[in-house]
Amino acid sequence: MALMTWNDNDFSVNIKLLDTHHKKLFDLINALHDAMKQGKVKDVLGKIFSELIEYTVYHFRAEEELFQKYVYPEYQQHKKEHEDLTKTALELKDRFDADQMRTVLTMETMEFLKDWLKNHICGTDKKYTKFLNGKGVA
Ligand code: FEO
Repeated sequence: MALMTWNDNDFSVNIKLLDTHHKKLFDLINALHDAMKQGKVKDVLGKIFSELIEYTVYHFRAEEELFQKYVYPEYQQHKKEHEDLTKTALELKDRFDADQMRTVLTMETMEFLKDWLKNHICGTDKKYTKFLNGKGVA
C-alpha cells in the first residue's frame, strides 16, 4: 500500500501546475518508501532520496517565484518553512549517507517527510489558493 494517497479534496491547492508538483512529490515519497520496504540497496535509496530533495527544491522555487511576482503577503513566512524543511531533509540525507552500517532508511525518516508534506500542503500551501486564484493563477 502506498504511503501517501492523493485526493483533490484534501490536497489540491486549485492551481494546476502546483498540484502537478505536489503529486510528483507524493510519487517520489512513495517510491522511496517502496524501495525501503523492498530492501533495495543503499545506492538505490540514496538516488531516490536525492531526487526527492532536488524536486522539492525545484517546487519551492516555483512557488516562491509566484509569491514574488504577485507580491504574496505571506511570502517570508512561507519561504522560511521551505528553508527549514530543505535544511532538515539535507541533514537526514547526510546522516543516511554517513551511516555505513545502515543500508535502509528508517521509518522515522519516512514518517517525517510524509507528515511534513501533508501538513505543509494542507496548512501553509492552501493559504495561497485564494490569493493566487484572485490574481488569475489557476
Ligand atoms: Fe508546495 Fe510550499 O510547498
